[in-house]
Amino acid sequence: MVKKSIIVLFLLFNVLMVFSQKIIPLPVFQQQLKGDFLFSSSTQVFVNSETSLESVNQFNDFLSQYYGFKLIVTKDRNPVQGKIYIELIKDSVPGYYQIKMNSDEIEISGGEEGIFYAFQTLKQMLVPAGKSMASVNCTEITDYPRFRWRGMHLDVSRHFVTVDSVKKYIDYISMYKMNRFHWHLTDDQGWRIEIKKYPKLTQVGGFRNGTLIGSYSVYPHTFDSLRYGGFYTQEQIKEVVEYAKKRFVTILPEIEMPGHSLAALAAYPEYSCTGGPFEVANAWGVFDDVYCAKDSTFNFLTDVLNEVMDLFPGEYIHIGGDECPKTRWKVCPGCQEIIKRESLKDESELQSYFIKRIEKIIEAGGKKLIGWDEILEGGLPPNAAVMSWRGTQGGIDAARQKHYVVMSPGSHCYFDHYQGTPTSEPLAIGGYTTVEKVYSYEPVPGELSAGEQKYILGAQGNVWTEYMPCFTHIEYMIFPRICALSEVLWSGSRSRNWDDFRNRLVRHFSFLDMQKINYAKSVYEIKAEVKSIENGLSVKLSSVVPVEKICYTMDGSEPAEKSMLYNKEILLGSDGTIKAAAFEKGMRRSPLYQQSFSFSKATGKNVILSVQPNKSYNTGGAFTLIDGILGKIPWYGKEWLGFLNDEVEISIDLEKTDSICNVIVDVLDAQSSWIYLPGSIEVSVSDDNINFKSVRKADIKEIEKAARSVNLTFDKTVARYVKVRVANRGIIPDGLPGAGNKAWLFIDEIQVR
Ligand code: ACM
Ligand code: ZN
Repeated sequence: MVKKSIIVLFLLFNVLMVFSQKIIPLPVFQQQLKGDFLFSSSTQVFVNSETSLESVNQFNDFLSQYYGFKLIVTKDRNPVQGKIYIELIKDSVPGYYQIKMNSDEIEISGGEEGIFYAFQTLKQMLVPAGKSMASVNCTEITDYPRFRWRGMHLDVSRHFVTVDSVKKYIDYISMYKMNRFHWHLTDDQGWRIEIKKYPKLTQVGGFRNGTLIGSYSVYPHTFDSLRYGGFYTQEQIKEVVEYAKKRFVTILPEIEMPGHSLAALAAYPEYSCTGGPFEVANAWGVFDDVYCAKDSTFNFLTDVLNEVMDLFPGEYIHIGGDECPKTRWKVCPGCQEIIKRESLKDESELQSYFIKRIEKIIEAGGKKLIGWDEILEGGLPPNAAVMSWRGTQGGIDAARQKHYVVMSPGSHCYFDHYQGTPTSEPLAIGGYTTVEKVYSYEPVPGELSAGEQKYILGAQGNVWTEYMPCFTHIEYMIFPRICALSEVLWSGSRSRNWDDFRNRLVRHFSFLDMQKINYAKSVYEIKAEVKSIENGLSVKLSSVVPVEKICYTMDGSEPAEKSMLYNKEILLGSDGTIKAAAFEKGMRRSPLYQQSFSFSKATGKNVILSVQPNKSYNTGGAFTLIDGILGKIPWYGKEWLGFLNDEVEISIDLEKTDSICNVIVDVLDAQSSWIYLPGSIEVSVSDDNINFKSVRKADIKEIEKAARSVNLTFDKTVARYVKVRVANRGIIPDGLPGAGNKAWLFIDEIQVR
């Protein structure tokens, strides 16, 4: 009996494993059935609505491209061989669909959108079954979305992409049952939409003379001198709108104002406060020259928005509203006159006045306004929706004021952030937003009451392209984070399970490989867990998602499949470098893991801190200071412990009395992040852990000379306990970054020799 139930459990487990397969986003309900359904060129599909016919045709294009055959489409209700019936349900819940099947037939029912989504599910379920055939495991699925707004944004101003690439982007959105494409069409670095009444917007504003090379945070800035740009004609825009409609994607066009408008002002400087002249920006960032709040600007923007509203059928128009410096408005006679005329308190209220006037233009055109959360400042226009990007507070405030909200906080939804350890990733703007973090996102803030929660329309991923020069790079940044976000938005919070998702994701990769999508392999990145053992360290390697094998070397060579197979913790007793990578089917799947370990008498020994590091900069606790791993430069928040305390005392027990003459303390100097070298470092030693004797002190001059590794030598002494006292620099002096604030103190490895 016991045996039998074990077998039943085992079978059930297997069924669940096969059946959880690789569908992303996870369907609301699915049940594995017996048998397979075979698709071939003799399979007939019955369809009697024009819209569903379009979905069938797209499915056929997919079959033709990747499996080499097409289904026979028929209006005859009784086809003879393999049958697929499409049943259109009028007034269905948007996105709802049901698939029922056995080995002989498939029945798909739902609204038009749902039927399109049913085919997206089938595409992912297909497996090759001989030449020009494909099969699916028979499954019953009932599915529908959690959120109304399931979006992806794309900035085409910083880097331009072709119409074909925009269409591919829409394919990717719809492949994951997402339904909003936020098209960021204008910014300081380029105006990308043809406006018939103002041709210079694209002729002048569509091109820049050069582009920043490398990271914005590396000075001095250098530029290439290549003319860069492009724009979409209104005909092309119409073509894209039509293409998106066939995939149930609504386009949200964004025309930035009053800030991020330098490209427009380069073309029409008369709408600025100073009159210009200006050039289209060739670097990233925020610029002081913005639209002037005078009447003529609104006439210009009315014309522009009217043309935009005619092109896009969606209900919302995005007007930006973010990051608008008030520098020019403060000294502009025109703007100051309006502040007086309208009895406004200040320039913040002038921004609110600006957005409220724009809302009237948009409402006159029969549309609704949406803007970044800065539009809350000085008061929201009456019917505006808010896109919350600076965290979630803007979204919470707007929902409480009964305004609709789309969530897109930088913490979870910015796909321009790094998705793996920055040193193994292509240059990105910063941040660290892994697939797991995206997957953990909950768009409805817990602070909201049930009544307020219904104002959260959904969420979207934002893709700012400063560091994405081409479309394959955009693919790299969105995949596989888009998979995680789609599940957050479609499948609901109850079914969310990271372990199940990552297993499915790994299987899902073959679907991306087939389509030659350049997805990031960062989820295969190897993580190391270092622990102290007797006489050294143990290093445990693992990857974020399951992988066939991890291979490694200890001799400095590149790891290959024939290198040592990792199957248990690596033990280290002296200096060494581990290089490792994940392999699957003979191919390397991960970025290279490479870590050097420096041993000293303190490595792996007992260490106690007098105060705890700040929560944000405490990845590994006190052990970080003696784990043999030196903090990396540039620093990315890990490996270094960060303190705001006046003084930190680090006590190390060498576990036996030993002869010592040298202590090296690593400290960080990163002034732009308000991190300063310590004011002093003092080393004391003891035999009994009670009576300490100071053996060496370094002052600020010596520390500044050493810069990072402060090497403190002293007369050879015999001791078991070593205490290192590190003093914070104190208040940051005038003229330096963060002046007037307490300096941060960052410490990593302590070596005792
Ligand atoms: C934004 O990221 N400036 C909306
Ligand atoms: Zn002005």
